[in-house]
Amino acid sequence: MRLHVNVYISLLIERPSAMDQCIANSLRKQIAVELDAAYLYIQIAEWLDKHELVGFGAWLRGQANEEVGHAMMLFNFLRDRDAADSLGSIKQRKYFFASIRDVMDKLLAQGKCIAGNIRKLLSLAQTSDDEDASVLLAWFASVQLEEEELVTNILVRVQSSYSDAVDDLQEIDADLATRQETIPGLLKSQRRHGIA
Ligand SMILES: [Fe+2]
Repeated sequence: MRLHVNVYISLLIERPSAMDQCIANSLRKQIAVELDAAYLYIQIAEWLDKHELVGFGAWLRGQANEEVGHAMMLFNFLRDRDAADSLGSIKQRKYFFASIRDVMDKLLAQGKCIAGNIRKLLSLAQTSDDEDASVLLAWFASVQLEEEELVTNILVRVQSSYSDAVDDLQEIDADLATRQETIPGLLKSQRRHGIA
């Protein structure tokens, strides 16, 4: 992945190319998807804080920062190709969270939805021979996979602790509190993948 990202950066420096309109439209829509995810995460974080799960809340706010960073990466990619105008709208959604288990189920569903979008976008870029977009989207796909694995692991812990909720949830909450971002989420993610 490090090599691919370096190739992507060099391509950006050397030759921002004109974009296929179908890919450009799909990337614009993906910006809204990433921001919609961030919006969901801060709503969940607020619910978690009110239920005294501040470790979960801090983790979700970090995830929200990452999603905003992803949206900006896509925006900058389009902007470099003079294709960042005509952004779409973000749907207004109202959420109800019944329990921490319900929260984790919704997070996992959201993650799977985004992963599906990314796979379709990557396939479109590859079949259109857009190497720049393919490298960028391959990075997105790998990040999405990591996030899905993390959410699945937490969900499994939450599910297995359900019969003894308070103590076990506090233990998971404390673990997540130690994951709290000390540097902006995207920068941390970029460093992990060799971009920064
Ligand atoms: Fe994302």
